[in-house]
Amino acid sequence: MKKQKIEIQLEVFETVSELPKDIQELMAKAQQARENAYAPYSRFKVGAALRLSSGEITVGNNQENAAYPSGLCAERVAIFHTGALFPNEEIKAMAISASSPSQILSEPIGPCGACRQSIAEYEQKQQSPIAVYFMGETGKIVKVASVMDLLPLGFDAKYL
Ligand code: THU
Repeated sequence: MKKQKIEIQLEVFETVSELPKDIQELMAKAQQARENAYAPYSRFKVGAALRLSSGEITVGNNQENAAYPSGLCAERVAIFHTGALFPNEEIKAMAISASSPSQILSEPIGPCGACRQSIAEYEQKQQSPIAVYFMGETGKIVKVASVMDLLPLGFDAKYL
């Protein structure tokens, strides 16, 4: 038996104003999208914005359903919407912002496991990394240069 350590790389920004200008713009779009979330059941709102290789920005937000599992997270709404509209564009970065009805979220809120898996699929499809920036409503922002930093030992198509 051998113990192994897996390291991931994070960058932590203290505030949105510390982000590069293009990512500030992307995060602002994620925050706007968050406000348009359809979340009547949890009232927990999430917005995601994607920067494409053309410079275009696409967005998504969580879409809930009275049959709860039929709803979908913001990140998957954003990435599936982008895959449908721009199948040949590379996704360069994703910005995510979340807000709660019960507290001001000031810590970074990472994407759920299913969203990590879905974002990873698009990294493989395009053969290049997608940088992910995530935050709550205010406060610090975490950046990973690739979603694989959020999904060590993940499953992928090469095992099929
Ligand atoms: N949600 C997201 O949109 N993204 C995540 O990564 C985690 C959770 C949504 C799903 C549901 O509408 C609400 O937040 C509460 O779980």
